[in-house]
Amino acid sequence: MAEEKKILYSGMQATGNLTIGNYLGALRNWMTLNEEYECFFGVMDLHSLTIRHEPAEFRKRARDLFALYIAAGLDPEKNCIYFQSHVPAHAELAWILSCYTYMGELNRMTQFKDKAAKHSDNINAGLYTYPVLMAADILLYQADVVPVGKDQLQHLEITRDIAQRFNGVYGDVFTIPEPYMGKMGANVRSLQDPSRKMSKSDENPNASVYLMDDADTVRRKFKRAVTDSESEVRYDVDNKAGISNLMDIYGAVTGKGSDEIEQEFKGCGYGDFKSAVGDAVADLLSPMQKRFQELRNDKNYLDGLIKANDERAYYSSRKTLRKVKKKVGLTEV
Ligand code: TRP
Repeated sequence: MAEEKKILYSGMQATGNLTIGNYLGALRNWMTLNEEYECFFGVMDLHSLTIRHEPAEFRKRARDLFALYIAAGLDPEKNCIYFQSHVPAHAELAWILSCYTYMGELNRMTQFKDKAAKHSDNINAGLYTYPVLMAADILLYQADVVPVGKDQLQHLEITRDIAQRFNGVYGDVFTIPEPYMGKMGANVRSLQDPSRKMSKSDENPNASVYLMDDADTVRRKFKRAVTDSESEVRYDVDNKAGISNLMDIYGAVTGKGSDEIEQEFKGCGYGDFKSAVGDAVADLLSPMQKRFQELRNDKNYLDGLIKANDERAYYSSRKTLRKVKKKVGLTEV
């Protein structure tokens, strides 16, 4: 019999519109992981509640994120792609784990501090216990590896600490997850301020290229991207952060290395280079957008996929939750 595959878990929040940073940095690299791992990808809608949303808009966003995962190329038969809020074990395990998490640990979370500073009018308890819910997501499925960006490493670290603490008391209940060390995606920066990561929640719409931007918008945003006052397309992150970012994007889309890109645009100036990047990105997005619209228009097909995948996640999550409840001494009927 074939050796059992290791388990991989990841997901994105259903907050904001996905950008080419999310795609080139994460999503695109998820496509082939199912060859090596049994993969779970969540639409993290419970995490999104830590920030206020208009309900109808939020509902649409979460569904769109699900459709986008698939439009981007994730196979819903080979991966379990599901909604976090449709699987009650997440919230249940999060509560139990919160009783094994210290406030001192949560106080150290830099993302909480950042978000609290940004949303000073709504520093809710969910924002504070966000990492515990994330730990529950990962531990429920006994994940071996978790592909996350740098900004989420601290949350993975606390997940490991909670799991080790729990295992220390009750025996081997949870697999201790590792960060996924495989091929990492491109580190895409803001088009308006390359010192910052391209973000789906940036207030300036010109800073990010969204996966749903039409070709004209994409080209315009690249045309307006902040660069330096030289005119040479040369890779130099320290002195030419804007151009280097565009080269990273162009390289990620075309597969070309920075030397090759420098050659290609020798003596061209920034205008031509920006047009080329805009064209390349627009061509990349166009088939994805078409597939997304098709999926969105086929409500029955999408509903069927959601139901089937939710059920698989539900089934996988129950085993761990039952074990945890038994270990801590909750009664069963
Ligand atoms: N916090 C993650 C982010 O914002 C999203 C997330 C929630 C997640 N639960 C997770 C990622 C579990 C990996 C595993 O990017």
